[in-house]
Amino acid sequence: MRYGNHMQSFKLLKLRASVTSTTALALLILASCGSSSGGSADTDTTNLTLDTQLAAALTLAGLDGDPVDGRSFPEITDPLAELGKRLFFTKSLSGDFDAACASCHHPRLAGGDAMALSIGTDAVDPDLLGPLRAHHPSAEGYDGGPTVPRNSPTTFNLALWEESLFWDGRVQKLESGIATPDSSSSATADPLAGATLSAAQARFPVTSEEEMRGFTFEYGLNNAAVRDHLAGRLGNFGAGAGEISEDWVSLFRTTFNEPTMPVQDLITFENVVAAIGAYEDSQIFVETPWKQYVAGDRDAISAAAKRGALLFLREPNQGGAACARCHSGDFFTDGDYHLTAFPQIGRGKGVPNLIGGMDADYGRSMFVGGMIERFSFRTPSMINVMETGPWGHAGSFSDMETLLRYHVDPLSGFAGFNLAGLPAGMQTSGFVQNTGEAVNQLLLQRGAGTSQLPTNLSLNDRDYTDLIAFLESLTDPRILDPVFLEPWISRNDAGFTDSHLLLAHDGQGEVF
Ligand code: HEC
Ligand code: HEC
Repeated sequence: MRYGNHMQSFKLLKLRASVTSTTALALLILASCGSSSGGSADTDTTNLTLDTQLAAALTLAGLDGDPVDGRSFPEITDPLAELGKRLFFTKSLSGDFDAACASCHHPRLAGGDAMALSIGTDAVDPDLLGPLRAHHPSAEGYDGGPTVPRNSPTTFNLALWEESLFWDGRVQKLESGIATPDSSSSATADPLAGATLSAAQARFPVTSEEEMRGFTFEYGLNNAAVRDHLAGRLGNFGAGAGEISEDWVSLFRTTFNEPTMPVQDLITFENVVAAIGAYEDSQIFVETPWKQYVAGDRDAISAAAKRGALLFLREPNQGGAACARCHSGDFFTDGDYHLTAFPQIGRGKGVPNLIGGMDADYGRSMFVGGMIERFSFRTPSMINVMETGPWGHAGSFSDMETLLRYHVDPLSGFAGFNLAGLPAGMQTSGFVQNTGEAVNQLLLQRGAGTSQLPTNLSLNDRDYTDLIAFLESLTDPRILDPVFLEPWISRNDAGFTDSHLLLAHDGQGEVF
């Protein structure tokens, strides 16, 4: 069905391209206005009309506005999630005590780090989060820019991802379990992955030098050695014995209700990530104006947001921008991988481009191999998206309208992309080559008819404003409220004091 729609719009475009005379052009403009029911609300501005149109579009797309759909997830007050919160915020899980999960996924930063690309270990001030976070000039590999090759995605609503985690989906559900980077292939389950995607994923940040491990911790040894050492650190045994003074053992004993179990069996990395996963899975923040609107409150969102929703949901032959081809369902993602040729900046994933530079990022094919999914990335959700910038797998956009204009017309976007707008120190020497290769791959896909990205959309300024108004209606306002978020933030208290707790601040006086 999608393919059919795509071919239809493709034919229409060929028709447009063959029109040359002024009259025909005028006719074409008229025709395109007429067909653009989403963007043509000039002629029918009443909310009722928009509401009626939107009701039809929602039915067609099968949306009920609720991405949770009755599923249940851990509460933040569950003991396991509470333990997970302490673990998520402790720098004791990083080799050199200088990074916590929360360094790059802080609830007060919408579950991300408010950076284009992250800096984990060896920051000048490990507790400084956000755009002012800097890599220490004497650190290994210092080049003045960020150290992590991809943008840190939000952990908010993590539990709603059903198939995979990471931009390339390298933690992925299989019939037989969960495949991870520790699996022998992308089709083989990792026996230690645990029960949930979130727990499986949490096994990996600690093994990444740039994120948490550091460059000397268990040097030359495998992931298992890193995890055993960290578990031993928390439990005061093995390679980690005596490294910290906190009594995590009592905390684990109470949480797992295991008063006498040998500590090596209690503080395993499997139990560590089960707790972290429960904490992350408790971050369900989907109470958006859009959800209220779809549930029947017509005044919950603006007319602009409604026009934006129509553009988002409709196919081009109905005047839409066909965003929902990929950003589909109530979580606004198909969970699949697509090539959008977003700018490739930063250090990249250490794989070669065609001129021998080693700063490319092959995206999905880093995990599954081959050319078909090269430069494809997992479709992001749109829930809370306005708060999770900078956007894109390499964090190359800090302005939503710029992103959308690029997304709608990647060729012009690439040609006009402004490197000067990127954070100072950003590595951009590979930008033209690496992004150009992705653009070429997009052209190949378009030639073969395999890209879902619509071609030759003509959106006007108001369409972009409307799309952004729609995206704004997808923010759960509670995530902007520090009081509401407080239960998700770890604090030292009577129950436990952690001398390695991340005490986050933004470098400008704001303490999180
Ligand atoms: C230095 C920053 C940094 C630290 C520290 C860090 N992460 Fe991340 N996280 C990232 C980046 C960057 C990605 C995306 C990587 C990719 O997709 O290849 C990511 C991806 C994720 C994802 C996948 C989200 C999704 O939508 O697929 C989860 C979950 C996550 N991290 C949780 C954690 C946990 C748990 C920890 C601590 C054990 C942690 N992170 C530590 C930067 C960080
Ligand atoms: C062909 C599938 C597809 C279509 C159609 C599509 N997108 Fe995307 N979108 C993606 C993928 C894949 C990414 C991530 C690309 C990357 O980071 O490299 C993305 C990224 C985004 C982002 C950035 C999100 C983030 O968290 O970084 C926004 C916002 C967005 N799309 C909105 C839209 C809108 C609005 C439309 C319609 C005008 C649209 N998309 C059409 C697949 C698609």
